[in-house]
Formats: sequence, C-alpha cells, structure tokens
Amino acid sequence: MIIKAQVLRNFYASLLRAVGTSSEDAEITSDALIDADLHGLETHGALRIPPYIRIAREGVLDASGKPALEWRKGAVSLINGNNGWGQPAAFMAVNEVISHAKTHFVGAAGIKNTNHIGTCSYYAKMLARAGLVCFVTTNSPPNMPPWGGSEPILGTNPICFSAPTPDGKVIVIDMATSVVAKGKILLAAERGESIPEGWALDKNGKPTTSPKEALEGSQLPVGGPKGYGLALFAEIFSGVLTGANIGTNLHSMYDKILNPSGVGAFMFAIDISPFGIEQVNAKMEQLIGMVLGSELAEGYQRIYLPGENSSEIAEERKVKGIPMSPSILEKMNQVAQELGVNPLKPDEGGA
Ligand SMILES: NC(=O)c1ccc[n+]([C@@H]2O[C@H](COP(=O)([O-])OP(=O)(O)OC[C@H]3O[C@@H](n4cnc5c(N)ncnc54)[C@H](O)[C@@H]3O)[C@@H](O)[C@H]2O)c1
Repeated sequence: MIIKAQVLRNFYASLLRAVGTSSEDAEITSDALIDADLHGLETHGALRIPPYIRIAREGVLDASGKPALEWRKGAVSLINGNNGWGQPAAFMAVNEVISHAKTHFVGAAGIKNTNHIGTCSYYAKMLARAGLVCFVTTNSPPNMPPWGGSEPILGTNPICFSAPTPDGKVIVIDMATSVVAKGKILLAAERGESIPEGWALDKNGKPTTSPKEALEGSQLPVGGPKGYGLALFAEIFSGVLTGANIGTNLHSMYDKILNPSGVGAFMFAIDISPFGIEQVNAKMEQLIGMVLGSELAEGYQRIYLPGENSSEIAEERKVKGIPMSPSILEKMNQVAQELGVNPLKPDEGGA
C-alpha cells in the first residue's frame, strides 16, 4: 500500500506525543523520520517506530528529555541529549554549527547522552543548504568486529559528507561503515528475504545469508580494514571527543534487557565564502561536469552524484506517496492501538 507523506508524518507525531514527547520534539523527530521514508531509507523511518516507542514506553529513553547546551567554546559546542530523542539533539547541533559558522566560518558540535539520530544526511543536507561543506557522524551499538577480530566491538557507525552545488542542490554521501546499514538486515528479516553473502557473519563467525543469523551475529565492515578504520574514527569523533558511550558500552534498542543507549554524535562544517563563492562554484560546476560527462561503464545507463538517486526517489514519493510493507504497517498499528492513537487505514493514504 501507499501512504501520503503528510499522513504518515502526522501519525508518527501522534505516537511520539502519546509517549510523552513535547509537540516541538515530536515534530522535529517526525520530520527526520519521514525524510528517511521519502528518500527510500524506510530502514530509518517506519521500521524504527515500534522499537522507538518500546524504549520510550519502558522508560529507557526519556521521551520528555530535552537536549541542553553543555558548553560553547569558540566555534565548538557540546550538547547533552539528556537521554531524549536523538533527532532534536542533532537538530540543536545543526543550529549551533550554523551559528558558529556565521561568526567564525567554521563550526563544530558534539552530542553525548542521546539516542539514535536516524540518518546523518538529514542534518548534513541542512548544513549544506546553509552554504557549508560538512561532515556528520554518530556511533551506534556494537555490531561489527574490528578487522581481524571476531567479537562485535564497533557500531555500523555512519559517516556523511555534504556540500552545496551552484544550482542550489546538495551532494551528499551518507553511508554506514558496514557493508550495509543494520536497518537493511532488519528489513530483510521483516520481509522474510535472505541477504547477500558478504554482508554479515553468524554468531559463530561464519558467513551467512540469513538475516536472523546475521542479527544474532555481526556485520562486516565496508572495504575490509578501511571500513573498520572509518568506523573507529566515527567512534573517536562521536564518543571519545564528546564523552558519550563508546564501543561495547553502547546499548541497542533491540536488546532483550534495555538500557539507555548513550549514543554520541559529531558534526563539523566550513563556510565556502572565505574561499570565494564564485571560485568554489566554478570549480564545483567543473568537477560535476567532469564526473557526469564521463564515459559510462558497460551495463550502466547513467552516472549519479552521491545522494542524487535518493533525492529523485524523494521527489517521486512526495507526489505519489510512500510504499509501505503490510507487516511494518501492522506493527505500527499495533503500537497505535496500545497507545489509543488512531491507526493508519489502508484507504487513508491513497496515491
Ligand atoms: N544512526 C545510526 O546509528 C546509523 C547507523 C548506520 C547507518 N545509518 C544510516 O543508514 C543509512 C543507510 O546507510 P547505507 O550505508 O546502507 O546506505 P546506502 O548503501 O544505501 O548508500 C550509501 C551512499 O551511496 C550513495 N549511492 C548509492 N548508489 C549510488 C550510485 N549508483 N551512484 C552514486 N551514489 C550512490 C547513496 O546516495 C548514499 O549516499 C544512512 O542514512 C546512514 O546515515 C544510521
């Protein structure tokens, strides 16, 4: 079935308010979740609603917890997420970075004591739209062994870079440092599909194509030791600098016994204007032209800039609506029923 973005977004906000989230934070969090659904990343939208609501209802996440500025030093800020939703804390960090960059041309913000922030690109795109070239990262519960190891120590820690383009768009690379985000394994499990070899190991360290075994085991880093190194640095920025939980001290929203996750995040941005807006725009246009105008490899119809594929999906979904798997819809409606929120009806979305 297809659901209109606005209908789904309002549904998320109602669920978040029903577990004690302020209207303001429910709006911010729902906007971030729906942006993921729109961009074809439902692994970071609808799929997360049942576990998000579970940790809030069990009091492991404080749905009324507001992020607070811990300190500001020069162009750097630290935010304490106060164990609330990760999205409002990350939104606050974006505003801190933009404000620093207006004064200093650069800005950085760390977040500690927060929860899952969703996709990094949601925040990176905001920074790029403010004329900044940026880096956004976060840490996540242990799911990946260090290269050469067999025990999950690091998260699938995403890293994201974004930059504005002269035509008012943004380029954005947003990637888990594992071969794929854990959400894609959760989605395969939800749909009863197998996963490709090379994504994950079972709990005995053997390669597996079963998402269930993968969820009990670990995920492999993208590019072997290179992905492991990037995940480690995501941890250094997000956890070591900020004082958030690190490695095996981070807790998952999927654990049997729940604990506050203690996630950290970090963002850094630099204004293009000191380098000369005209110069940067001219070079950017030249670079994009070289990349997109290059010869195609056999079997390929088109070259995309990073993020271009998902922004085209978003344009289409804004008009046609968001495809929703019946099993995810059923799980969200179950949560809604328990909270006394109106469920989404199959005829409510319509294309
Ligand atoms: N909050 C967390 O704890 C957490 C942890 C891991 C991942 N994530 C999020 O999960 C999401 C998915 O991560 P992923 O690694 O599975 O992403 P992915 O593999 O779907 O895409 C990675 C990147 O490659 C780009 N890309 C894909 N195909 C392309 C092509 N043909 N040409 C050019 N570029 C192309 C995409 O635009 C994207 O920027 C990300 O948004 C990430 O932030 C979050």
